[in-house]
Amino acid sequence: MVAKIFSAALKGLESQVIEVEVACNKGLRSFNIVGLGDKAITESKERVSQAIKSIKLSPPQAQAKRILVNLAPADLKKEGSLYDLAIALGYLLASKQVRFNPQGKLILGELALDGSLKPIKGVLSFSFLAQKEGFGEIILPKENAKEAGLVNLQERQRKIKIIGAENLAEVISYLEGKKEIPESKVDPQQLKRNFQKFEIDFGWIKGQLHTKRGLEIAAAGAHNVLLQGPPGTGKTLLAKAIVSILPQPSFEEILELTKIYSIAGLLPKERPFLNQRPFRAPHHTSSEVSLIGGGSPPKPGEITLAHRGILFLDEFPEFHRDVLESLRQPIEEGEIAIQRAKYILTFPAKFTLIAAANPCPCGYFGDPEKECTCTASQIASYRRKLSGPLIDRIDIFCWVPSLKYSDLISPDKEGQSQEIRKKVGRAREIQRERFKKEGILTNSEMKIPQIKKYCQIDSSSQNILRKYVDKGLLSARGYHRVLKVARTIADLEGREKILTDDISEALSYRLREG
Ligand SMILES: Nc1ncnc2c1ncn2[C@@H]1O[C@H](COP(=O)(O)OP(=O)(O)O)[C@@H](O)[C@H]1O
Ligand SMILES: [Mg+2]
Repeated sequence: MVAKIFSAALKGLESQVIEVEVACNKGLRSFNIVGLGDKAITESKERVSQAIKSIKLSPPQAQAKRILVNLAPADLKKEGSLYDLAIALGYLLASKQVRFNPQGKLILGELALDGSLKPIKGVLSFSFLAQKEGFGEIILPKENAKEAGLVNLQERQRKIKIIGAENLAEVISYLEGKKEIPESKVDPQQLKRNFQKFEIDFGWIKGQLHTKRGLEIAAAGAHNVLLQGPPGTGKTLLAKAIVSILPQPSFEEILELTKIYSIAGLLPKERPFLNQRPFRAPHHTSSEVSLIGGGSPPKPGEITLAHRGILFLDEFPEFHRDVLESLRQPIEEGEIAIQRAKYILTFPAKFTLIAAANPCPCGYFGDPEKECTCTASQIASYRRKLSGPLIDRIDIFCWVPSLKYSDLISPDKEGQSQEIRKKVGRAREIQRERFKKEGILTNSEMKIPQIKKYCQIDSSSQNILRKYVDKGLLSARGYHRVLKVARTIADLEGREKILTDDISEALSYRLREG
């Protein structure tokens, strides 16, 4: 007899249905799995046999039969151990030790030797698949059930029954109709709660008003930023503080973030979702793969883990040139394509870049007090790293100067971050409304036709910009970036019209000092 169970495989962030066929035929005693599995699938044979033995049923090796498991389609490389449960159930069905109807059920889970079910990665992606492909229920490890249940919080979408089980015996009892397992549900209120404790409040950072305002604008419009200045002036501090003013992600964004972090195995243990914007700060010695993703099985890199949040590249010129070069395409496209033998998979990578750099290797070039000790050629080679494909994508340049004593002793302003976060949240809401039909969420994502449509300016603003362009102070690219930033500044005020003041302020973030 041949049994067919439905399971699934990850393909980037998306997934695909896998049919687990088990044939139990007369012939020499054997137990084989085919269909391009990795080592984990071979090991699955051992786990499946042990788990079946543990519940006093007859394992494949005890049958005088030829048992063949086929994972189809064969051309998709299947990785991981999530087929254990499907293989075990397929075998038990084919060998007539259990009876149930596998139609309409998506079955996922790794088995431990004692038959208990171990959690798997990528569950949210699988429940989206189940919804899309018309499955009525998902059976999976109990620890994953809440995460799977997030799909049922979507409005106007078909609901799926989510069954989280502790072990193989429980799954069998359920499938044979001998035991009820209550459906897993997520409390939608939980998604709205802010679990984040911010390390740094904007109010604790002294002086640096221009940069703080620059970061506020960046947070509102998702604009890329470069912070430049001598050592110890608070560049790293300021960059880290930006998380405290980022708006809460929307429900759709929470689903996206949760999918990514689930696949990376980085969801917090106590909560099956991610409802805060990520902040990723890879070290400058990071490899290309850890930054952009890849490997086998393909894992999301830092740029995907920073999706809808911040990618902070501190000591920017210290990063290897090739690594920086590899960021060019994902920044442009908002996603990264990873080539596999037979297909290409993509991970999203819409992040806000914050880069920080000293103006020269010693850090004091252009400082009014301290003398720079670098040679002209050292400075030139350092500068070359600061020009290039990534720097071309910067909307906001901030010069972070040495602090004055009077700044240092100024009092803290408690709760400043919360105030700014509210403003930023409102500005994001305006953008979401504006771009409803454009398929983007923020001003930084506008392309030229959208800039023309949404960033209209009056003649006095045009005159200012003309002066800058004609004097060679502003390139064509810079011109469009000024308009986008000015759009965000107006949005922070909740104002439709872009004023000359907005343009002047946006220009103040184009002029690179030092
Ligand atoms: N503007 C500031 N307000 C308050 N503390 C500051 C400020 N700038 C620097 N500091 C203090 O100095 C330390 C070093 O700052 P850091 O952000 O690492 O500087 P940079 O990255 O520019 O070299 C911080 O951890 C903080 O304690
Ligand atoms: Mg620093």
